[in-house]
Amino acid sequence: MNIGIDKIGFYTPHLYVDMNELAVSRDIDPGKFTIGIGQEKMAVPPVTQDSVTLAANAALEILDDADKEQIDFVIFGTETGVDSSKSAAVYVHELLGINPNARAIEVKQACYGATAAIQMAKGHIALNPESKVLVLGSDIARYGLNSSGEATQGAGAVALTISANPGILALEEKSAYMTADVMDFWRPVYSDKAFVDGKLSNEQYIEFFAKVWKQYKDKSGFDLKDFEAITFHLPYTKMGKKALKPVLADAPENVQERLKANYQVSTNYNRNVGNIYTGSLYLSLISLLEQKEDLERGSRIGLFSYGSGAVGEFFSGILQPNYRDYLKTESHRNMFALRKKVTVPEYEAIFEETLPTDGSTVKLDIEMDPAKICLAGITENMRQYVNKSK
Ligand code: COA
Repeated sequence: MNIGIDKIGFYTPHLYVDMNELAVSRDIDPGKFTIGIGQEKMAVPPVTQDSVTLAANAALEILDDADKEQIDFVIFGTETGVDSSKSAAVYVHELLGINPNARAIEVKQACYGATAAIQMAKGHIALNPESKVLVLGSDIARYGLNSSGEATQGAGAVALTISANPGILALEEKSAYMTADVMDFWRPVYSDKAFVDGKLSNEQYIEFFAKVWKQYKDKSGFDLKDFEAITFHLPYTKMGKKALKPVLADAPENVQERLKANYQVSTNYNRNVGNIYTGSLYLSLISLLEQKEDLERGSRIGLFSYGSGAVGEFFSGILQPNYRDYLKTESHRNMFALRKKVTVPEYEAIFEETLPTDGSTVKLDIEMDPAKICLAGITENMRQYVNKSK
């Protein structure tokens, strides 16, 4: 039985800051951000968006009534969750009106969470072929104003349904993964900003890719020539390129050219959104599928997931015959086209506008946010979410 990605959607807030303008205001050569790091625009989340609303907005675009009935498991991957006890999945379950006879949980391992969720979903579908699982990967990447990681912030979410006989990508059986305790990136519970050893995180990412790729090759017998494209977790778009380069050297020229060209396409959306942590790999997959219109059915796509701390995994899938019919290309084109640029001072003000942490009540102006699902405020320590489309 084929199990894999049936539908895939994403959401990013309606505001962004231009990386050239950010560089100038930080007294940095813009080439460092646009070429050295490879980012053009960075999503800026208003205070009315958090990891719950981003995920719910991403799921809203893909779920129909039949999906809502069939889904019996919601798994929410995030490292910027809103509650230490209650899972973000429960909020999304309610906001979207999913079948009450469902499980709803949150999983965490830095940017690896959504991949863990997909693998868990695969097992669930193998045991329950009639059901569907909703996997969410949603985060707001915050390092701080003027910090070394500032240019690699971003915000957004992906939503995927995992089912038998999937519409888009059938996941293959072989997968290679590893864990090692590394302090390359972490966020203690008292901090709303991440701590990072940037150089170490780059090195670990590259090393993890080399190791899981070798393990995958040994397990599967496949080599680079068997792949139409390889998609990567993209904290910034130069990162995957750095990891792919040393591995590519062994491949024939035409394979190298194909993988490099498809890598470039797979980075388009990420270049304009920034890092969305656990959803980032899947945003790259969406970018590839929606922007490269002549990818042939039956093509093998590789996926490299990396979550600092650290867990890495390489797995693969086969493009299904009518995969283009399941994509939301037009809707994503509109989402990008309708975004509004904010100036650097406006971005800084939005960044600093955070929610109270002392339990005080706050009411937010959700009319300023065109998203259908918003955070409307906090009352008695309880977040108040609104689905304007209900
Ligand atoms: N034009 C073009 N490229 C330029 C440039 C210019 N004017 N100035 C610098 N660069 C290049 C550098 O040569 C470097 O390229 P390289 O990595 O291929 O050598 C790149 O821009 C980045 O410069 P660097 O000095 O390494 O940046 P940094 O010390 O400010 O840190 C990160 C970059 C990504 C490590 C930092 O933003 C960070 O810590 N981000 C968060 C963690 C993260 O995303 N980790 C990734 C793995 S999970």
